[in-house]
Amino acid sequence: MPAGRAFGPALGRTRPALRQTRTRASHHADPHAGWFEYGITVGAGHRGKGDAAEAVVMLLRFMIAERRCHTCQTRIFAENETSLAFHRRLGFVEEGRLRDHVFFAGRYHDLVVTGMLADEFAEQHPVSGYRSCVPDTLSV
Ligand SMILES: CC(C)(COP(=O)(O)OP(=O)(O)OC[C@H]1O[C@@H](n2cnc3c(N)ncnc32)[C@H](O)[C@@H]1OP(=O)(O)O)[C@@H](O)C(=O)NCCC(=O)NCCS
Repeated sequence: MPAGRAFGPALGRTRPALRQTRTRASHHADPHAGWFEYGITVGAGHRGKGDAAEAVVMLLRFMIAERRCHTCQTRIFAENETSLAFHRRLGFVEEGRLRDHVFFAGRYHDLVVTGMLADEFAEQHPVSGYRSCVPDTLSV
């Protein structure tokens, strides 16, 4: 089972309160190179409570500690100040900009690529004391 599909059920079982968090985990990944990308959306009535931060930290721990990923990237619409602020707060840095990359609503939109390396993540969220979030019964 791909890592992203394994993570969703693991998240729901490990932390029931996060079931309202619509998480799309690692929808692009290159296991050989060790990178993955994800997207996350929290239901409108559940924002501002720390759920997305908790879910993303859990996802990064899973992909780094269970899947040996080395770097994580996100692609964010340049107009999406909330998501840019959210990712900055988590420690992501801007790595580049894909200009006029997506067309909708009658015009092109830039995507900002942000990223975080495993070492940078570990500085903020040490793996010591980490408990696997993959239930023994889950086939991965
Ligand atoms: C971006 C999103 C996932 C954040 O979810 P959330 O659960 O509200 O975020 P959290 O409560 O975990 O916030 C964590 C930190 O992010 C930052 N943040 C979150 N929302 C913010 C906002 N509206 N403005 C500025 N900073 C914000 C804050 O620093 C916050 O930490 P703090 O509360 O200690 O200051 C949510 O707003 C969302 O689903 N948006 C629509 C979909 C989307 O844009 N997804 C991202 C696509 S890449």
